[in-house]
Amino acid sequence: MTEKRHNDAFSSNFGMIAAAIGSAIGLGNLWRFPYLVGQNGGAAFIIVYLIITLIISTPILLAESVIGRRGGGSPAEAYINVSGRKAWGGAGIMGMITCFMIMSFYVVVGGWTIKYLILSVAGQFHRGAIIDSPTMFEGFMTSTTAPIIYSWLFIALTIVIIILGVQKGIEKTSKLMMPMLFVLIILIGIRSVTLPGAKAGIDYLFKPDFSSLNFESLLAALGQSFFSLSLGACMLITYGAYTPKSSNLTKNAAIISVSDTFFAVMAGCAIMPAVFAFGVNPTQGAGLVFVTLPQIFTQMPLGGVCSVLFFFTLFLAAVSSAVSLFEVITSSIMSLGKKSRSSAALIVALVLVMTGSLCSLSQGVLRGVTIHGMNIFDQFDYVSANFLMTTGGLLTVLCVGWRMGKEQFVDEITSGGTINLPPALASVLFFIIKYVAPIVIVATAISIIF
Ligand code: PFF
Repeated sequence: MTEKRHNDAFSSNFGMIAAAIGSAIGLGNLWRFPYLVGQNGGAAFIIVYLIITLIISTPILLAESVIGRRGGGSPAEAYINVSGRKAWGGAGIMGMITCFMIMSFYVVVGGWTIKYLILSVAGQFHRGAIIDSPTMFEGFMTSTTAPIIYSWLFIALTIVIIILGVQKGIEKTSKLMMPMLFVLIILIGIRSVTLPGAKAGIDYLFKPDFSSLNFESLLAALGQSFFSLSLGACMLITYGAYTPKSSNLTKNAAIISVSDTFFAVMAGCAIMPAVFAFGVNPTQGAGLVFVTLPQIFTQMPLGGVCSVLFFFTLFLAAVSSAVSLFEVITSSIMSLGKKSRSSAALIVALVLVMTGSLCSLSQGVLRGVTIHGMNIFDQFDYVSANFLMTTGGLLTVLCVGWRMGKEQFVDEITSGGTINLPPALASVLFFIIKYVAPIVIVATAISIIF
């Protein structure tokens, strides 16, 4: 077995939970979830999302942390250690590539959030301000230099946290940012649901209309659940390796899953009532956050304050997720290339400066460069969320279900028999990991291909 690096570990179980929740809560919750709810018929989609998250995603989350803690080291080392086969290291390398692809477009959106935070602090979205938000957003994101510079700023902020290390960087900032995220989203939610006319938005979120559900919505719910919980990208394998031996992994998985889902629903409550109160179309896509919301802020009481709170929340959520993506890649390079933390982090940053800039330019001057009709930015998003993350999730459950086996799985989730866990619960979880999750993932993949 590879020796664990003792300086790379969370100092407490709460540190691990805060960092993993920080990773889970991200642009996926605030940017993707509300518009997917809008496009897939509101409450019915939320119900499907909840069921999938409970039955499929949470056990996969557990399986990832089992591999990480039992195997230790970088994701590739962890896979090799628990499977006993060198070839499984490829699954860890794939996780690193997945994180690179996600990170490449994530830093671009992270840069946009910095720009919009600055605009809101400068009072651009205060009540009564006259703005043409579609032109404003389009003009900014298609320009050549400004969005690239903001993405570099975002990379620089992230790299500082990574270089500070697991305890002083990731754990410390997560313990600060994670509670702030919850307080902020609750504040914005309260403002939104108390707007005149907000009831239609609340009904939309909580009164299910199952006739609007179709197979596409099921796929969207599964993909979103994976993306939101950061599954299939080795995040929990990396953080699992830093988790104290005494931690109850099953309880942790449940807490991370419930917190992320609660936050996503709260994000829906913060956005949808305002969208309905101002008569805006809820099915609008990704532009909801950067185009529709600024317009709404200029029309609502306390709009200026809300805009600052909202873009600050979006910024914190983006940073805490980017940190985890960055850490998966850094830890892999540290072990594969035998590099120190700071040189590994600098290598990652340099490559990201290039791939991130490419994604940013693909919204403007490189718009014409497309693969299957998608620009580079959309292609990175599509391939990582729909293909790489699901394949990563499949490899995780296959490794635990079919290579590691039930005995070792139970030994790990009970911390060598020291944690009391109902045997029936352990059996159900293992059954889902071994049979249900692989079947669901493969069936989904087949339906996407055909
Ligand atoms: N969970 C993040 C979000 O919802 O925005 C995205 C993400 C972070 C995916 C980290 C994968 C990952 F490893």
